[in-house]
Formats: sequence, C-alpha cells, structure tokens
Amino acid sequence: MKVSIIGGGGLVGSCAAFALQCGGIVRQIALIDLNENLAAGHALDLLHGGPSTADQIIVSGGYEHVTDSDVICITAGLRRKPDESRLDLINRNTDLFASILQQIQKAGYRKDAIVLVVSNPVDILTYIAQKKLGLPIPQVIGLGTQLDTIRFCSLIAAQLKVAPTQTRALILGEHGDSMVPIFSSATIGGMPLDKFPGWNNQLAQQIFQRAKTSGAEMISKKGGAGFAVGIAIRDVIEAIALDQRRMLPVASVQEGCYGIRDVALSVPTLVGRPGVVDRLELELWPKEVQGLRASASALMPTLKTVAARVL
Ligand code: LAC
Repeated sequence: MKVSIIGGGGLVGSCAAFALQCGGIVRQIALIDLNENLAAGHALDLLHGGPSTADQIIVSGGYEHVTDSDVICITAGLRRKPDESRLDLINRNTDLFASILQQIQKAGYRKDAIVLVVSNPVDILTYIAQKKLGLPIPQVIGLGTQLDTIRFCSLIAAQLKVAPTQTRALILGEHGDSMVPIFSSATIGGMPLDKFPGWNNQLAQQIFQRAKTSGAEMISKKGGAGFAVGIAIRDVIEAIALDQRRMLPVASVQEGCYGIRDVALSVPTLVGRPGVVDRLELELWPKEVQGLRASASALMPTLKTVAARVL
C-alpha cells in the first residue's frame, strides 16, 4: 500500500507520516509539499528511523507520487487563528485546495484510489473533493470527527482514571462548532458511561466542551495539533490498508443516513479498502439525531457559497 501525503512538510502531514511509520502497516509513504526541502528533510528523518520501526519505503517528491498511490491524504492548508472558526478558514483555503485537486487530476490516480481529506474545514473540502474529482462517493473520506472522538475518549479516560483504549464515546457531525457528542452509546469496558462511578451530566458537558475546543487549545498552546491528528489519520489509513471494515466516525458525502444528504459530515462509517463500505444508523437519542441534522444545516450555507465558487 502506498500513501501520498500532500502537505507532508507541515505539522499534521509529518505527524501522520510518523504515525504511519510507527504503525508499520503501509509499505510506502511519499511526502509532497510546496516546501520541497522541508518534505525532503522529514522523509530523510523518517528513513533514518526505519531500521528500528518497519521495512518501508519513505520518500519525498512531487505529484508523480499520487499516480500510483492507494491513499492520497490531503493535509495541506492554512491554519486557523486561535479565534477563527474552521468555517471562516474556507475563504482563505478554498483556492489552495482547488489547486491541489487540479494537480491531483493532472497527475492522474488509480481507479481505486482513496482520497482522505484532512485540510479544514474538512467537511466542506471533502464535499468539494468528491464533486471536483468525480470519484465515487465511497472513495472520498474526510477525517471528520475521528480526531474529536479520540480527544473526547482520552479526556473522559483521564478524568475517570480508566484505560483510554476501553473508553468509547463518539462525536459525530461537523468537525467544528456544531459537532455532536453521542452519550447514548458511550461505554467504558462495556459499562454504560452514565453508570460509571463519578460520572455526571455536568462533567459530561465540561469534558465535551474541552474536546470541542481542543483544536483551538492546540493552536494557542503549540501552534496546532500534530500527534493526535496523525494518529487519527493512521486509524483511517490502516482501516483502508487492512480492509478492516472498522467503524469510524469519518466524513463522506451523505446519501440519506439519518435523513441527511448532499452534504459531507461524520456518521458511523464502515471503512475498508473500498473506502466507505457502509454508513450505519446507530440508534441515537432523539436530541442526538436533531444535533446531527442541525450540524448538516450549519454546514449548508458555507457549502453552497463554496460550491458556487469552485464547482
Ligand atoms: C484540529 C484541527 C486538525 O481539530 O482541525 O486540531
């Protein structure tokens, strides 16, 4: 499996590459960046670690790497300012993203390539990527709320002093201000979260709020998230590489799940080598479904503006 990371010189792209190296699952990692020297530096740095990680080919270069990649991961983009929402970013990021899509198209890609969009606002750009590249819907995935979900689980686990890997609590919807915490199916080691000693509603709201604003917290503390977003990217890419059919909260252009269509956002999604294998309507509390639909509505105006501009 070959993975190209566009924006491989950046914090997110290079952390994704390192996570994939530590994962040891994919065979080839190619870093592509406007800043060629930086991408080459990261690739060499990663290469040096190869003997103690995995037998992989790690290179940098141009869009020629896209042509035979199984996964094309787009992380390039401008960063939010701490007080800027991800949707505000769209005005600055659209043109850059459109030119990346153009270069992917020019390079050509495998018929079965999966495009994984990480750049923000991820839901809008996932939609634009699918429409502009004309790939089948299942082949264009946005990282969506997988990052928010692992953040949420990590914070719950830290608060309750339990194992993060046994903590399950989804966030769905927009990777942005309207994201929806899913408490109805939240568990720790199989025990419903709301039955867990020490858990209460106030804590739930506090922790969700922290998870929701974690992106901004990372920007103000260290210039932006890196390690966790790299790990979240690895979750998705390894599900594709191993054809895991793993259920992940990732974004794709919706076609009726929870009554939502023609907008990209995150719902429970089975991910495997074909990309989106299925979208599943996990039973939710009515207010959670309402939250998801509100998330779709929140994305619509921006989506319409951007689509009119670039499609
Ligand atoms: C964040 C960026 C990746 O949430 O959107 O940190």
